Amino acid sequence: MSSFVIAAATSLLLASSVSAQKSLTAPKGADVLTVAVFGDYGWTGWIPAPDHFCLEVLPELQAANITIPNELVNDCDPGDKMYINNATALQTDTANYIGQVCTLKNCSAVVSVGDNFYDSGVDFTTGGILRFEEAWVNMYAQGIFSNLPWYQCLGNHDVVKGQAGVDFETKILPYYDDRWNFGTAGLPYWTYDLTGSNWTATFVVVDSDCFLSSYQKNTSVYYNEYTIGCHKNTSVQVDFLNTTFANSKADWKFLQLHHPYMSSATNQTDLAPLVEIVAAHNGIVLNGHDHCLGHYFNNNTNFILSGAAGYPQAGDCNNGMPLGPYAKFLAANNNTAANGLVTMDISSTSINVEYYVRDMLFINGDLYPVSHDLTPSYKFQITQKST
Ligand SMILES: *[C@@H]1O[C@H](CO)[C@@H](O)[C@H](O)[C@H]1NC(C)=O
Ligand SMILES: *[C@@H]1O[C@H](CO)[C@@H](O)[C@H](O)[C@H]1NC(C)=O
Ligand SMILES: *[C@@H]1O[C@H](CO)[C@@H](O)[C@H](O)[C@H]1NC(C)=O
Ligand SMILES: *[C@@H]1O[C@H](CO)[C@@H](O)[C@H](O)[C@H]1NC(C)=O
Ligand SMILES: *[C@@H]1O[C@H](CO)[C@@H](O)[C@H](O)[C@H]1NC(C)=O
Ligand SMILES: *[C@@H]1O[C@H](CO)[C@@H](O)[C@H](O)[C@H]1NC(C)=O
Ligand SMILES: *[C@@H]1O[C@H](CO)[C@@H](O)[C@H](O)[C@H]1NC(C)=O
Ligand SMILES: *[C@@H]1O[C@H](CO)[C@@H](O)[C@H](O)[C@H]1NC(C)=O
Ligand SMILES: *[C@@H]1O[C@H](CO)[C@@H](O)[C@H](O)[C@H]1NC(C)=O
Ligand SMILES: *[C@@H]1O[C@H](CO)[C@@H](O)[C@H](O)[C@H]1NC(C)=O
Repeated sequence: MSSFVIAAATSLLLASSVSAQKSLTAPKGADVLTVAVFGDYGWTGWIPAPDHFCLEVLPELQAANITIPNELVNDCDPGDKMYINNATALQTDTANYIGQVCTLKNCSAVVSVGDNFYDSGVDFTTGGILRFEEAWVNMYAQGIFSNLPWYQCLGNHDVVKGQAGVDFETKILPYYDDRWNFGTAGLPYWTYDLTGSNWTATFVVVDSDCFLSSYQKNTSVYYNEYTIGCHKNTSVQVDFLNTTFANSKADWKFLQLHHPYMSSATNQTDLAPLVEIVAAHNGIVLNGHDHCLGHYFNNNTNFILSGAAGYPQAGDCNNGMPLGPYAKFLAANNNTAANGLVTMDISSTSINVEYYVRDMLFINGDLYPVSHDLTPSYKFQITQKST
């Protein structure tokens, strides 16, 4: 499958007069550069599998020992089927909100923490291309978004289709839209620097799906040839992080990944080898997966959670109740988690981290009231430089 995709990508490239991908990058040389951080957004255009199949046919096929593709199992997820209408509306509303905040803040880039396309990702098919256009190209097209580079990352929903899904996002999409930046190596782990007037920030992106032992169970919808292969090989990504951080003299060093090491729902302790390296360099972790906004501090490390650009889930932030002193901020209550994003103003002396949280006002009430939602609900500053 993967060699087909690569061959197809190559012929696409040769057939076109465009000689190379030219992903946009953030401007260099600013005293202060603002980036937006968010993930877990791509719901629009997802068509769940029909009830008749999920509720009646699927159990019969399973009883007959017929293997069901993971993609189809995932597209029968009962919770996600129930959320889809709301999720589509919330992605659109939140895209507008992010556009407003980013216009005010002069965002120069988006730092994505994955889950770019629910429910089972996209691949190099007409269906994949239509989803890409609907949930991303046209969703984030207006105003400030029109020239904004997105530094991309994979989440679990992006790897359900296995290598074909990974290749589509890492190798094909950078040719499709200049704003989609996945580096030039076509790999799910990569690094980039943001460079200011007198400061540098190094970001290392990894695919955390490869680290989770729960995804290696043959009952997991994430168990496929891609995750089996890269799980055997996590040292490749650990070494990549270690070497990149060791070779970087940057003032600020970030690990950008999908899953949380620190969480209010599930601490993914399989990520410890990565977090040890971040802690040794006084780095910062950016993650999503939990559908809410949060700030955790543990292991001498700030963990910035920004997974609230699609369908927010209060339980992922424990309904706003901290499980311990490591939880510094949680944008959730007993009714809902709030949509929103995190911005980081990066300079030579500090990183100002701001949490923009939407007023969750709907016809049935204000589920998470925020009186001025174009000012940050929470902020903190990082001044300890990376080493
Ligand atoms: C927005 O940020 C860019 C990049 O730092 C900078 O060049 C530009 O002057 C800023 N614009 C405003 C209006 O502050
Ligand atoms: C399905 O597989 C199980 C376990 O391998 C076996 O016990 C069962 O008889 C099989 N059912 C059918 C319908 O073949
Ligand atoms: C969808 O939104 C409506 C209106 O806000 C709400 O009543 C309903 O409970 C929501 N459904 C789900 C599955 O979240
Ligand atoms: C970097 O430049 C800014 C703006 O000129 C200045 O305020 C700051 O002190 C400089 N930082 C260092 C470490 O020299
Ligand atoms: C799944 O794993 C279990 C336990 O490891 C094993 O017993 C079972 O045969 C496996 N099923 C398949 C379809 O590989
Ligand atoms: C492990 O990674 C190396 C280097 O990227 C690659 O050559 C090899 O095929 C990978 N092995 C598996 C099992 O994925
Ligand atoms: C990281 O690299 C250093 C050398 O720069 C080495 O001493 C250390 O063992 C490596 N750590 C990991 C986790 O690979
Ligand atoms: C995650 O780890 C923190 C710090 O060790 C702990 O206090 C918390 O209870 C853990 N969270 C969960 C959901 O287990
Ligand atoms: C983080 O701190 C906890 C104690 O709160 C410890 O159990 C864990 O091993 C530490 N993790 C890393 C990666 O150092
Ligand atoms: C959620 O409800 C419980 C019980 O009514 C209450 O103690 C708690 O403060 C509420 N939490 C939030 C964040 O509103």
